[in-house]
Amino acid sequence: MNPIGILRALFLNRIRLLEELGAKVPRIGRATFGRLSVVLVKTPELVPEVLIERAADYQKTALLRLYARPLLGDGLLLSEGEQHRERRKLVAPAFAHQRVSKYADAMREQAEAAQSGWRDGAQVDIAHEMMRLTLGIVGKTLFDVDLLDRAATLGRDIAVLQDALMIQMRLPFQLPMRRSNQAAVDRLNQTVYGMIRNRRASGIDNGDVLSMLLLSVDEETGEHLTDEQVRDEAMTLFLAGHETTAQAMAWSWYLLTKHPVHFARLRREGMPFALQVTKEAMRLYPPAFLLARMALRDTLINGFEVRKDEVVFIAPWLLHRDPRNFEEPLRFDPDRFLPEREARLPRFAYLPFGGGRRICIGNQFALMEGQIILSTIAQHVGMDLLSREPIGLKPLLTLHPKNGVTVRIRRHA
Ligand code: HEM
Repeated sequence: MNPIGILRALFLNRIRLLEELGAKVPRIGRATFGRLSVVLVKTPELVPEVLIERAADYQKTALLRLYARPLLGDGLLLSEGEQHRERRKLVAPAFAHQRVSKYADAMREQAEAAQSGWRDGAQVDIAHEMMRLTLGIVGKTLFDVDLLDRAATLGRDIAVLQDALMIQMRLPFQLPMRRSNQAAVDRLNQTVYGMIRNRRASGIDNGDVLSMLLLSVDEETGEHLTDEQVRDEAMTLFLAGHETTAQAMAWSWYLLTKHPVHFARLRREGMPFALQVTKEAMRLYPPAFLLARMALRDTLINGFEVRKDEVVFIAPWLLHRDPRNFEEPLRFDPDRFLPEREARLPRFAYLPFGGGRRICIGNQFALMEGQIILSTIAQHVGMDLLSREPIGLKPLLTLHPKNGVTVRIRRHA
């Protein structure tokens, strides 16, 4: 198999492959597949060398760039080097602490509205509902647009494209873009370009991300970002900003239905406990279950030689389930994230948001959103799990529950 073919195979069964690799590698090790080799970093103390100290020796993988570029362009997630540094500086103020706390009201309102549509006894796919909710929240907070009327189409388009991406990755040759996929890209583009046009036309600076992007000026050239550049950033935030959080919420509700004691505690204790649940759910089911980097040159990880073009895997899935890092790792125990206990966790053993210069820019946003969604909804409803177990894993770009998570709603009086 050629290297791209092998990488595709790796992408296909990534959870199984990771576990097989992980079983053979105690701290750090290499698996070779023909000409391609992968270095797995399995202990937390080696992580900072890749993500921080020698981060300049790596880039995101070629495969990711190849497949995600049509959708995300040169946005923050895919840009590299100087361009990444500049863009990050530009977008960062939108995620500063004071600003993120201003988004709380919008998050609460949308969570209230979402649950108000669920009748007592109704069967809902909570994974689907969370996708809709987080899409609405990103639209409102970052772009001040109401996406709920279009949520169904947008959600479908995004799902279609992720599936197409996964199918393409399985094949040794490049498929021409299917009409239905192109139509999905076109619709997403229309939405984003529509937002840009309307905002430019209105000339209003309402201080959200979209205004910030449109008004920003390049320090050296003095030029504004082009519509296309704004589109790449907006699309990146739009996609990176709702899919992941939706998965974290879907797994949270799943775990809560399995542990009614904790569900009851959530209703009683509200926000602080909701934060613990969000974090613990992302430990067991990290939406970004695998971080991958490609070496730009020969380099070292604590003396271990990494060769140019090798791919380095850091797997939250393995780190989070390693008994060396977490006692009884398979047990759902939100109290691991009581502040005093969280402070004692080994550094870099818990990486739901990655680390170093490319750490998730939305991490505070996501944690606040998770805690507001869980605590708000739990005030109004309980849930019983209807999905047959075990819930399958569907590792797309993020870790989905395979057939959603179906629950029956119990409204509180
Ligand atoms: C539970 C929710 C989330 C999870 C688990 C998550 C996870 C991650 C991870 C692991 C990375 C780093 C990837 C790597 O190093 O290869 C990342 C990057 C990123 N995330 Fe998130 N994310 C979440 C929510 C959000 C939100 C709410 C936003 C924006 C509104 C966002 C925007 C981004 C962006 C723009 C990047 C690229 C940052 C850069 O490369 O400089 N994410 N995310």
